[in-house]
Amino acid sequence: MTESPPRFRDPVDPPAEGKPWSVLRLLRWSTRYLEDKGITDVRSDVEHLLADTLEMRRLELYLHHERPLSTAELSAFRPRLLERARRRPLQYILGVASFRELELEVDERVLIPRPETEELVEAVLSRVREWGREGLEAIDVGTGSGAIALSLLSEGPFRRVVGVDRSGAALDVARGNAERLGLAGRVEFLEGDLLEPIGTGVRFDVLVSNPPYVAPEEWTQLPPEVRDFEPRMALEAGEDGLAFYGRLVADGGRVLRPGGFMALEVGADQAPRVVEWIRKHPGWERPVVLRDMAGRDRIVLSGWNGEEVSSEQGLTDVEDRRDGEGTRRGPRADRRVQGPEAGGVGTR
Ligand SMILES: C[S@@+](CC[C@H](N)C(=O)[O-])C[C@H]1O[C@@H](n2cnc3c(N)ncnc32)[C@H](O)[C@@H]1O
Repeated sequence: MTESPPRFRDPVDPPAEGKPWSVLRLLRWSTRYLEDKGITDVRSDVEHLLADTLEMRRLELYLHHERPLSTAELSAFRPRLLERARRRPLQYILGVASFRELELEVDERVLIPRPETEELVEAVLSRVREWGREGLEAIDVGTGSGAIALSLLSEGPFRRVVGVDRSGAALDVARGNAERLGLAGRVEFLEGDLLEPIGTGVRFDVLVSNPPYVAPEEWTQLPPEVRDFEPRMALEAGEDGLAFYGRLVADGGRVLRPGGFMALEVGADQAPRVVEWIRKHPGWERPVVLRDMAGRDRIVLSGWNGEEVSSEQGLTDVEDRRDGEGTRRGPRADRRVQGPEAGGVGTR
């Protein structure tokens, strides 16, 4: 039985009878196809999809742009393009997301890790490197794919990291990533509500968290890629989107050693409220707010001294990191499959 040829119903550039699909022609056609569906900035998505299908690097697509595609290759590419056309995120289609130096397996059980969160990891790493100590311990609250926990272990002076998540399904993904990266022996993933799984007296040097922070009323404004595919539990925080910060500020000190610190990723307009809570809560040191590459306040850091803070310590430092320490980028930039760029996912 002969295999029937894949049908590319082409409103833009119908193939002439017998004219083969070359790499370049398919790239151009597919880009137009997705653009016609109202999806923007799709060229790199199409390149990733085709390169992955052909087991090539993206650059190689252009080195072999006249290469004809076989029927089998077209058949493999077509359903993936259609998935993207119905707004499924590229990373879920490929099953992989790049995060700093790591390639993480991802699917709809976990949030796709974002570039902003790479900066959160950088903020933690730059501070612990200043300490010049080894053998540190950290807790990553709302670990999802394990992106933060595993990056800290692979890049920083950490002996052990605990990742907590309320989603058992997310933790399955995180455990798989830890196994694949050879880090499973140094990370423990616990299911539970924020700090609830951490027993009395257990303390860490660093508490890091990128908790859900989308307010329920913002839900409909999210792009379909986020709203229709990413886990709601990973995004939505009750009330005004700030619920998790209040709880972490109130309870975080319980799991931190004196001299340790907390690092939180916050939504674009949430830093002032989080800073205010930290200032009012005894034991936290003067908070520091860091800006992301787009100049928005996105990271709040505060040391834990376990003592009362004086009222003079209430001012907020704002460090503009655009001209300061750069976010270290991982190798293999050509093949990186990242979350949407800063600002590309509504309130996240
Ligand atoms: C914004 S995602 C962050 C995922 C990952 N840390 C990252 O940065 O890519 C938030 C995570 O918090 C988890 N989460 C939601 N509510 C939680 C709760 N009450 N306790 C612990 N984790 C929770 C979600 O399942 C999700 O994995």
